[in-house]
Amino acid sequence: MTKEESKNRIEVLSIQLRAHNHSYYVLSKSIISDYDFDMLLEDLQKLEEDFPEYAFEDSPTKRVGGEITKNFKTVKHKYSMLSLGNSYSKEDIEDFETRIKKLVENELEYVCELKYDGVAIGITYVNGKLTQAITRGDGVQGDDITANVKTIRSIPLQLTGSDYPEEFEIRGELFYPKDVFEALNKEREEQGEDLYANARNTASGTLKMQDSAVVAKRRLDCYLYFVLGEKLPFTTHYESIQKAGEWGFKIPTEKLKSIKKCKNVDEIFEFINYWDKERSQLNFDIDGVVIKVNNYARQEEIGSTAKSPKWAIAYKFKAEKVSTKLLAITYQVGRTGAITPVANLEPVLLAGTTVKRASLHNADQIEKIDVRINDIVFVEKGGEIIPKIVGVETKQRDIFSEPTQYITQCPECETVLVRKEGDAKHYCPNEWGCPPQIKGKMQHFISRKAMNIDGLGEETIDLLYEQGLAKNIADLYELNFDQLFELESFKEKKSQNIIDGLIDSKNIPFERVLYGVGIRYVGETVAKKLARQFKNIENIKNASFEELTGADEIGDKIAESIIDFFAIESNVELINRLKEHGLQFELSEDQLANSTTKLEGLIFVVSGVFSKFSRDELKNTIEQNGGKVSSSISKKTSYIVAGENMGPSKLAKAEKLEVEIINEDRFLELIQ
Ligand code: IVH
Repeated sequence: MTKEESKNRIEVLSIQLRAHNHSYYVLSKSIISDYDFDMLLEDLQKLEEDFPEYAFEDSPTKRVGGEITKNFKTVKHKYSMLSLGNSYSKEDIEDFETRIKKLVENELEYVCELKYDGVAIGITYVNGKLTQAITRGDGVQGDDITANVKTIRSIPLQLTGSDYPEEFEIRGELFYPKDVFEALNKEREEQGEDLYANARNTASGTLKMQDSAVVAKRRLDCYLYFVLGEKLPFTTHYESIQKAGEWGFKIPTEKLKSIKKCKNVDEIFEFINYWDKERSQLNFDIDGVVIKVNNYARQEEIGSTAKSPKWAIAYKFKAEKVSTKLLAITYQVGRTGAITPVANLEPVLLAGTTVKRASLHNADQIEKIDVRINDIVFVEKGGEIIPKIVGVETKQRDIFSEPTQYITQCPECETVLVRKEGDAKHYCPNEWGCPPQIKGKMQHFISRKAMNIDGLGEETIDLLYEQGLAKNIADLYELNFDQLFELESFKEKKSQNIIDGLIDSKNIPFERVLYGVGIRYVGETVAKKLARQFKNIENIKNASFEELTGADEIGDKIAESIIDFFAIESNVELINRLKEHGLQFELSEDQLANSTTKLEGLIFVVSGVFSKFSRDELKNTIEQNGGKVSSSISKKTSYIVAGENMGPSKLAKAEKLEVEIINEDRFLELIQ
C-alpha cells in the first residue's frame, strides 16, 4: 500500500469503526460480528503503528486506554452542578406543580425521565471533540477524569453531524450495567477477592483508577440527560436530548419509554407507576424518576435556589420491600473468624429475583429488631446486592415465640466465641483449627497478590481440605501428582499444572511469602516494610516489641500480632516446613545488593511522570535505600522528586514550604 492509500485506509477504517461502536454501544444494535469488528480494529492498529502521523487523535484504537493519571486535577465547574429536590408521593408532586404555577403564566409542559442511580459527570465538547470530563465533586469543583471517561465506548469522542454548538457541556450518569457488575463480581469471587457490595460505589471507584487501561476493560456505560451552554440552538429540554442523540450520545428514548412529555400530574404519575413496576426489568439501576419543566424560557422564569433548580424535581421510589417468613437463622464463619448471622427465608420475589437469604449483620441488630424464628419479616433491597431484614410484623407473632439466643460457640469448631470491645461482630478465636479459617488461610496464601499459584483456586483448596490432602499451607508442598490425579475431574494437565505452579512459587520473593503466610494485620504494604527492614524471617521472629515498633510504619497493633503469631509453636513449625520446601524467607541477593541506607532519615514526595522509572519503581528504590515515601508535602518533606506534569497544587505547596524539588537524575546521584 502506498502512503496515500494507507492514509485513506486509516480514515475509512476509523469512520467505520466509529459507526460500529455507536450502533453497538449506543443503539444496542450489532451490525457486524465481534470477530469482524476485532479484525477491522486490528487492521487499523497495524496501519497506525506504521503511519502514526495519520492516526486520528480520537481514533477508535484509543478506547483501550493506557493513559495514567497520577493525581486527578481538581477543576472548577463552568456551570455549578446542582442537585435536585426530592419527592415521595403524588401530593409532593402536586405541591411542586402548585409552587411553579405561581411563578409562570403560560401553559406548562413537563418531561419525565428515569433517575439513573450512578455517578454524575459533566463532559465538555469543543468543535465536536470531547475535551474534558469532570466528576460532580462538591458541585462547585470536581475531579478531571477525562482519560478514564474517554475509554467508555458509549461516550463519543467525536460527534456526528455538524449542528452541534461550538462549545457545550453535557451531563449524565455513569454506571455499571447489572450484567457487567455481576460478571465483575463473579470474576472477583473466582479470584478469591471480596465482592463489591454496591454498583454505584464501585462505578465511582472505577472512575478514580489511575490506569485508564483497566477502566477500559470495565465496560462502564453512560446515559446523558442535560445539555448546557451559551446560546443553545433549541428552546426546550426535550429537543436538546433528541439532538444529543443525533450527535451520537446515548440518551433516554420514547421507544424504550425512558422519556416522556407530560401535561399534568396524572400523566407524570402514570410514568412513575409504570417504572416503579418495571424497573427490575432494566439492565441498570434507577432509584426514581426526574420531572423537568420542558421549556427553557419557563425554566428561566422559575429559576433555581443555590442548591437545586426549582423547575425540576426527583421522585424517589420506595426501596422495594416484601414480607416473608423467617425459617431459620444460620451463622457463617468468615476467613477471619468473623461470625455473620444469616436469615433463611421462605423464598420470595424481590426486585426481580428470588430471595432466600438475607443478612442480619450481628447480634446487636438481631436484638434491636427482636427478630425470632417463624416471624413474618420485612425484607428490603436497597443499592446493595444482599437484601436485608428491616423489621418484623410483631402482630402476627406466635405467642409462644422466644427471643433469639445468639450463639455462644463457633458453629464449625465449637470454640467459645469472643467479642472484643468496640467490635460489632463475634469472632471464633480458633484461628488455626477452625475449618473455614484454615481454608481461608490457604486461599489467601495462593491468591494473586500472595503466591499466585497457577492452577490452584478456591474450589480446589476446598476439595483438598475435604479430602484430607491439605490441612495447612505447608501440606500443599507435599502433594504429589498421583494424589491429585486420583481426584474426581482432575486430568493429567490440571494435576501437573498445580504441581508446576507450586514449584514455581518457590521463587516468589520474601515479602509476598510473608504476606501470604497470613499474620493478622500484615497486609501487602506492611509485609514489604518488614521484609526490607528486617531482611529475613528469623530477624522478624526474634525482634522485640520495641524493635518492631521502632521500625518504619509498624504500630503497636501489628507488633503485637507478630509476637502473638510466633509465640504459637505450630506457626513456627509451619514456617520451618515451608523453609525446608525452599520458599523464600529472606531478601534475595539482588534485593540486598540494591539496598543501602543512603537515604535514611529522608522523606520523599513523588510527583509527576518519569522517564527512567515507573512511579512504583521510584518509590521502591527510595525505600530500598532506606528513605521514606509520603503522599503529601509537609515541613518534614526532605525532597520532592518531580517528573513531567507535576501537579500545580503540589508545586505551589512545595514553593510555600521551601522544599527542595529535584529531578530523577539528581535523585540517582543521591543514591549513587
Ligand atoms: S437532571 C439541574 N436528570 O440525580 C438538573 N439528573 O439527585 C440536574 N440524575 O445530580 C440533574 N438521573 O446526578 C437529571 N434523568 C436525570 C437524572 C439525574 C439521575 C442524578 C444527577 C443529579 C441527581 C440529583
